[in-house]
Amino acid sequence: MSAALRDRVEQYLSAAFLDKEIPSRLSSAMRYSLLAGGKRLRPALCLAVARACAKDNAEEITEALLPFAAGLEMIHTYSLIHDDLPAMDDDDLRRGCPTCHKAFDEATAILAGDALLTNAFSHMARADAPAPLLLEAMRLTADAAGAAGMVGGQMLDLEGEGKKLSLEELRILNEKKTGALLFNACECGAVLAEATSEQRRAARCYGSELGIAFQITDDILDVVGDEATVGKEVRHDAESEKATWPALLGLEEARRQARLHCEAAERALEGVFSGPDADFLRETSRKLVNRTH
Ligand code: IPE
Ligand code: IPE
Ligand code: MG
Ligand code: MG
Ligand code: MG
Repeated sequence: MSAALRDRVEQYLSAAFLDKEIPSRLSSAMRYSLLAGGKRLRPALCLAVARACAKDNAEEITEALLPFAAGLEMIHTYSLIHDDLPAMDDDDLRRGCPTCHKAFDEATAILAGDALLTNAFSHMARADAPAPLLLEAMRLTADAAGAAGMVGGQMLDLEGEGKKLSLEELRILNEKKTGALLFNACECGAVLAEATSEQRRAARCYGSELGIAFQITDDILDVVGDEATVGKEVRHDAESEKATWPALLGLEEARRQARLHCEAAERALEGVFSGPDADFLRETSRKLVNRTH
């Protein structure tokens, strides 16, 4: 995604939650976390897949789907706020800034997360897409974020603390915790752009391979990264005895697995997507294994 596209996502997010009806402490906490930066990966994936499907109408589809893509970032930000709470991972740093509950307080952070999640669906509903497709994408998103998806993955993550999971158990945990929101972003981009079933399958497969690689790299960064670059506390996973890829396989094998899943993500695009937005998707998976934050 070009810097210009990223700017449009940022602009959309900057204009959100300024409503005078929102108690100011709540809107401050929501905007504090939402606008603290972040790679904006989920909106980028959604828009890039939609553009790759729509081809000649890339500009129109971007404009039409911006509220939906921004909604995905709101859900992701809520998941980070709650993930950092003392009852969860108990982290003090996020996106290079004090976590929401540190900058405000725990109750405010819980409510900011609740509101980001709930209002995200209001933003998604504002996308300009045929109603049945929008309904389908919103249902997919609710399922990906919910009990059988991200929230379920967070449950498995907490239950996995102090346990040695099998590789298969760790894969399932990651697929839910991190993979679900990522492959959902890709699949929804396809659905909303009226993709063929082949494009939709390819988008989902790309996103789910990317999702595994993404969490493996996140786990590796917790071991080898430095706090200033990563923008969050490091060496925290081992302290909490989290079930992670490097803990289970060692660093080298975890790195190899991340590379393999990135290659599989790229292969999923072959023969289905082409052009600059497909190049962006390929580049994203390549950059992912070498990322430092
Ligand atoms: C961090 O996600 C949480 C995980 C799912 C591993 P990101 O690495 O996408 O976080 P931001 O949005 O860039 O801060
Ligand atoms: C959490 O995974 C992913 C979410 C659902 C928020 P982590 O707990 O590993 O994410 P970080 O390392 O805190 O960003
Ligand atoms: Mg966590
Ligand atoms: Mg965490
Ligand atoms: Mg992590």
